[in-house]
Amino acid sequence: MNNTISTPYFLVDETRLTQNLEILRQVADQAGCKILLAQKAFSMFSCYPLLRRYLAGSTASGLYEARLGKEHFGGETHVFSPAYKPEEFEELLTYADHFVFNSPRQLQKFGPAARAAGKAVGLRVNPECSTQEGHAIYDPCAPGSRLGTTLANFDESLLPLLDGLHFHTLCEQNSDDLETTVAAFEEKFGKYLHGLKWINLGGGHHITRKDYDRERLVRIVKHLKDTYQVEVYLEPGEAVVLNAGFLVTSVLETLHNGMDIAILDTSAACHMPDVLEMPYRPPLKNSGESGEKAYTYRLGGPTCLAGDVIGDYSFDAPLNEGDRLVFEDMALYTMVKTNTFNGMPLPAIVWRDANGEEKLVKAFGYEDFKNRLS
Ligand SMILES: Cc1ncc(COP(=O)(O)O)c(C=O)c1O
Repeated sequence: MNNTISTPYFLVDETRLTQNLEILRQVADQAGCKILLAQKAFSMFSCYPLLRRYLAGSTASGLYEARLGKEHFGGETHVFSPAYKPEEFEELLTYADHFVFNSPRQLQKFGPAARAAGKAVGLRVNPECSTQEGHAIYDPCAPGSRLGTTLANFDESLLPLLDGLHFHTLCEQNSDDLETTVAAFEEKFGKYLHGLKWINLGGGHHITRKDYDRERLVRIVKHLKDTYQVEVYLEPGEAVVLNAGFLVTSVLETLHNGMDIAILDTSAACHMPDVLEMPYRPPLKNSGESGEKAYTYRLGGPTCLAGDVIGDYSFDAPLNEGDRLVFEDMALYTMVKTNTFNGMPLPAIVWRDANGEEKLVKAFGYEDFKNRLS
């Protein structure tokens, strides 16, 4: 790590990123499908030229991501939103080439304009098949979900407006759960896929994780292609940058209140909100579980939020003011989710190239905080 760059900063590693991209390209080649970057997970556009060498394009959650994808990523630009804004739609048509709608009503409202502009049009369906436990807020198949059209709400008369179907139901899952979901999808919607051009299997596929069963994924994709004569899309976010980024932070202060505590210059609430929202405990280099090594600390941020705690970690030696700590797997759903609550500075963005050289891509300051307010 480079000690001349001020903390906190996100560090993205070209070698690790490229390893993921190689895997994704291999899957795409073997399965004969197209893989897109879900920008919601990672929108570091300075490295889009590298990503573009491996991926077919990007997918967006709305106008701004679609524009970023169109202007910086290239290739195919897809967009899905639960509800589009009428006043934005015309501009959106200039950026995206694939439009996925959430409901028959949205499809009726915007589909004809998308069609007339020569765009591909799809409907997100809800196969009502929950395969994840523990993270209810990430389950679009949960009862009462607003995401995707259930079979009961599906309107066959809209089929002439459609080129494809889309579902997104997974979160950090393996291909056995995809297989279960595809079976549920086929049972409910398979008959409608005959005659369409594509199916998009959404994100949540942890394709680049060590234990991910990629052969099964390839089999599933081939099955869909063979059965329905459609093109298959995957749009992972996490898998593109899994374990390819870090958040480097410094110890500002230590104190004791029944246990050792360290205050860092990074904040869970501002810089890694998923730690609190999901919640999860991010891996930290050279540390152990609470009590595993000689010195255990509760690590927290400098904001006013009592719960701005990253977790309890243990170390071989006591922590000192100025020590640098490196949180791992910090490229996904971090940079895109930062905020400046309490006037917290945004972490800088640093790129480590394949030769190990670290380059400051962007630093943020007071103006970035002020510009979001008035
Ligand atoms: C529609 C859609 N596509 C793709 C993704 C990317 O998912 P992940 O980053 O888990 O792969 C998401 C995540 O919420 C999503 O909602």
